[in-house]
Amino acid sequence: MKIAVPREIREAERRVALVPESCRKLVKAGIEVAFERGAGAQAFFPDDAYREAGATVGENAGSVLGQADFILKVQAPAPYPSPGTHEVDAMREGAILLCTLMPSRHPDAVERLAARRITSFATDRIPRITRAQSMDTLSSMANISGYKAVLVAANALPKYFPMLTTAAGTVLPAKVFVIGAGVAGLSAIATARRLGASVEATDTRPVAKEQVESLGARFVGVDTAEIAQDASGYARELSDDFYKKQAELLADRCAASDVVITTALIGGVKAPRLITAEMVRGMKPGSVIVDAAAEGGGNCALTRPGETIVEGGVTICGPLNLPAEMPWHASTLYSRNLTAFVLAFWKDGRFTLDLDDEILRGALVTHGGEVRLAPSG
Ligand code: NAI
Repeated sequence: MKIAVPREIREAERRVALVPESCRKLVKAGIEVAFERGAGAQAFFPDDAYREAGATVGENAGSVLGQADFILKVQAPAPYPSPGTHEVDAMREGAILLCTLMPSRHPDAVERLAARRITSFATDRIPRITRAQSMDTLSSMANISGYKAVLVAANALPKYFPMLTTAAGTVLPAKVFVIGAGVAGLSAIATARRLGASVEATDTRPVAKEQVESLGARFVGVDTAEIAQDASGYARELSDDFYKKQAELLADRCAASDVVITTALIGGVKAPRLITAEMVRGMKPGSVIVDAAAEGGGNCALTRPGETIVEGGVTICGPLNLPAEMPWHASTLYSRNLTAFVLAFWKDGRFTLDLDDEILRGALVTHGGEVRLAPSG
């Protein structure tokens, strides 16, 4: 089997799907691996490191993708800059693709993959079961997003994060409020705590309380009898009455905070609007909001995805791809997840396409010329 890894072409994407360490592992298992020249350059993995790991390096995407049985990518396939050409067109009919496809956000790519009879799997749809934990790119990347969101906030904040006792007097710790305590939120809490901030967090899922407290932060939440999560553990949409009560709590905690980090998603995809323009107006000048849910539309009404703005003295950052801003580790962890996926189904010298397997069935997006999405949730 031949695996191909092209250079990512979407704007500001600096990650690469496979790093030399994983490449060596796949080669050792008897798999041929080919990279497009410069595929790892933006993540600081030079072509020579791939050659040393036993891979070949091809001149362009066409030559590498056209011969591959299996393609590993970070982002969903996209059009090339020259008009009328698309990454999917460069892939061989009948090949397998594994990437962060996010089918609901990239319907055009999904249609093209089906038309070209590519078997595509979305890493973002791999079921979150114990057997698939080592393949969980969502968690690896969310961990980085939470960490980076706090660093972005610390950079923009005109204050210290830690408490300091200096000859010029005592400095109080920054107050950080984290909205959404899933993987990204917990990582943000841990990072803000390490920097010495005083941290509070909220979530709609009651199980989050214990996790927040175990990281040394205070949990604040709305008491409710509503069932806050679906069978996969993702947050569900709640009643208007709940959101009304939550809005009061959020307005109060945002006004008391120096930094607000938002990471809330419904069903793992959609960002609920939680911070209104009025809540922003109630915040202290110099405060910072980092909306780590900007890619899903944003948790703050004033967020402009991809931009940093200042409204009434409050800095609002809407970063779109935080993992790409830490490309070395983001690529390394993503690469380990993908390698675990490939090797889990690599038996007797071939990739076993057993679509009855829970992981493959859950992650499948297109096969045999059709869109074959399993119902999620
Ligand atoms: P996510 O990225 O989909 O959402 C982030 C957080 O936002 C969630 O904790 C959610 O409850 C919260 N949220 C939604 N609406 C909110 C609101 N109005 N106010 C405050 N918070 C709100 O979540 P993530 O990080 O992907 O985790 C989803 C679930 O998957 C969790 O239950 C987590 O424990 C579970 N999980 C399971 C894994 C496994 O078994 N391998 C691995 C990672 C996560």
